[in-house]
Amino acid sequence: MFKKEIIAKDGTKILLREPTMRDAEQLTKFVNKLATERHNGILINKRISLEQEKKWLRNNIAETKKNNKIILVATYNGCVIGNCEIWRKKYIENHRGEIAIAISKEYRKRGIGTAMLKELFKLAKKRMKGLEIIEARPISYNIGAKALYRKLGFKKVSEIPKAVKENGKYYKVGIMQLYIK
Ligand SMILES: CC(C)(COP(=O)(O)OP(=O)(O)OC[C@H]1O[C@@H](n2cnc3c(N)ncnc32)[C@H](O)[C@@H]1OP(=O)(O)O)[C@@H](O)C(=O)NCCC(=O)NCCS
Repeated sequence: MFKKEIIAKDGTKILLREPTMRDAEQLTKFVNKLATERHNGILINKRISLEQEKKWLRNNIAETKKNNKIILVATYNGCVIGNCEIWRKKYIENHRGEIAIAISKEYRKRGIGTAMLKELFKLAKKRMKGLEIIEARPISYNIGAKALYRKLGFKKVSEIPKAVKENGKYYKVGIMQLYIK
């Protein structure tokens, strides 16, 4: 199981590690705090239950064991303050993987997102043999996510019009790719 301490830009010590079922409660709190944030970027705008989170974690830990998925959580003082993941596509698309990431609002812009994704990509290269392309799908208004992905070398290759509808308003979702091979 991966585990590493990183120092955020403000000097805070953050632990990056793979989650276990014991993190279900903390992850539920983390997601529910994000879910109520306007334009949160994570595609979830409703609170989730502990049972839903346990089911998600159980399935995804199983997928991790098959090297189809990697999840990293960032914790500070034992609380989950960040999460990122990569899932590998199947069959004739399995040279591509897609990512998602979120950091709690009060911990953003301290370099934690960058550090998490760098560790995630190192693990993906090691564990997901044959993976060539990593994809990210930021919603058009998500300045922070686009800045993070560009900084890591992602390039926008396409976009999906009207991909997201929030409060009656449509938004495009960009498709960004990073070649790792
Ligand atoms: C997107 C997100 C994960 C970035 O995480 P983070 O820890 O704040 O990112 P970092 O501190 O590593 O910043 C990476 C770069 O992006 C820039 N950046 C981050 N947020 C920014 C913002 N809101 N506006 C402009 N630039 C921003 C940083 O300045 C940094 O560049 P620098 O090193 O040149 O200063 C975080 O804002 C977040 O969780 N947002 C809500 C969920 C979300 O949108 N997830 C992505 C879905 S596609």
